[in-house]
Amino acid sequence: MKTHIFLTFIAAVLLLTSPALAQERKPDAPGAKWEGLADTPQMGWSSWNKFQTNINETLIKDIADRMVSLGLVDAGYVYLNLDDGWHGERDERGFIHEDPEKFPSGMKALADYLHAKGIKLGIYSDAGTNTCACYAGSLGHEYQDAFMYAYWGVDYLKYDWCYTNDINPKGAYALMRNALRAAGRPIFFSMCEWGSSKPWEWAAEVGHSWRTTGDIGVGFLPIPQRYDENGNKMWTPLGVMPIVDLNEPLRKYAGPGHWNDPDMLEVGNGMTDAEDRAHFTLWCMMAAPLILGNDITNMRPETLAIITNRDVIAIDQDPLGIQGLRLKTDGDIQYWFKPLSGGDWAFCILNVGPEPADVSIDWSSLEVDDDLSGRSTDFATVNYTVKDLWNASAKPFTTLVKGKGKLRKKMVQNPASVVVGSHDVVVYRLSPLASR
Ligand code: GLA
Repeated sequence: MKTHIFLTFIAAVLLLTSPALAQERKPDAPGAKWEGLADTPQMGWSSWNKFQTNINETLIKDIADRMVSLGLVDAGYVYLNLDDGWHGERDERGFIHEDPEKFPSGMKALADYLHAKGIKLGIYSDAGTNTCACYAGSLGHEYQDAFMYAYWGVDYLKYDWCYTNDINPKGAYALMRNALRAAGRPIFFSMCEWGSSKPWEWAAEVGHSWRTTGDIGVGFLPIPQRYDENGNKMWTPLGVMPIVDLNEPLRKYAGPGHWNDPDMLEVGNGMTDAEDRAHFTLWCMMAAPLILGNDITNMRPETLAIITNRDVIAIDQDPLGIQGLRLKTDGDIQYWFKPLSGGDWAFCILNVGPEPADVSIDWSSLEVDDDLSGRSTDFATVNYTVKDLWNASAKPFTTLVKGKGKLRKKMVQNPASVVVGSHDVVVYRLSPLASR
């Protein structure tokens, strides 16, 4: 009898773990990623771009206070993410702990502090033996770490790819996804393997976002190669435009629940206001995660105005969840479109050149037929009201490509032209009027 029960048990285990069955798992089955956490791209703040590993409890609480008082949480920035360098040692049983000097009250107390303010706590680890800054990685401790994060009240995990040697990325990220699921607390899973194994092709069921490129740096155009004092090439980050060029072609892979991540924002970290505005707008056009990376405790009003522009944020957070496209490039001028809900479009003109440009807008040459969304602009038959999103005082106008009677003669096109500053953008929201 006992043998019979044992064999039945083994058969059940084999059946439940067979690959065929695994493929049929419903989204909410054990081992599936947590659903409902990324209907729109994630928004928050991360410690890395400005502070690297110089983080501690006082700084993070200050950041949290400012996120509330500056209206960032209200604008949608709900995650406060500790990046590399929060770690202390593993204990004798293998459980990870926070650095007791940097975080003397402990991670659970920090999570409680944030949650009481309506902020969610993000944390960082690595699929390899070590993090990129050489703290303890999660390799071999995935379930222990996931359980610790859940116990602390963590809401978001960024999972990096340093010191992974030759482990398989798909397996490594799926292992942590399963661990996060088993730990029982919904935790956003942000994959960070820099696009090396084309995660956009396989990770929609694994994570909520995946990095598509190497690390961003403070620079709009390509950042010149860095060298050490002996003339050896040093690791050099990517500027905004090289990242855009890598991320734009991947639009078909993004959508609600799974986003292309062209890295965190460098707004407020040293580019010009125009460059910051263009960087921020392009991230919104690409439905990218909006993770601030500047010192919000010491920020110019111009920077705050950029990161809290609700109209531009709404492009990023649009419920359709379609990544925008670069329709055409004409010298230094680029024309971008993003289909939005309600038949609307975001339309962005970018000038990557060194001088301001006087750009004529010829709507009939800007028709979009987007296979991905099944949407067309139809400027020839649909008129739109046009709102300038960075220039609140500008009066909305109407696109009019062909008109009836007198209007047909005039072939009114509005506006005839617009000046776009160097390394700057103009972005409009187009909303359809009734069809003619
Ligand atoms: C990698 C990541 C960065 C950051 C650092 C931390 O370079 O891509 O975003 O997390 O590690 O060491």
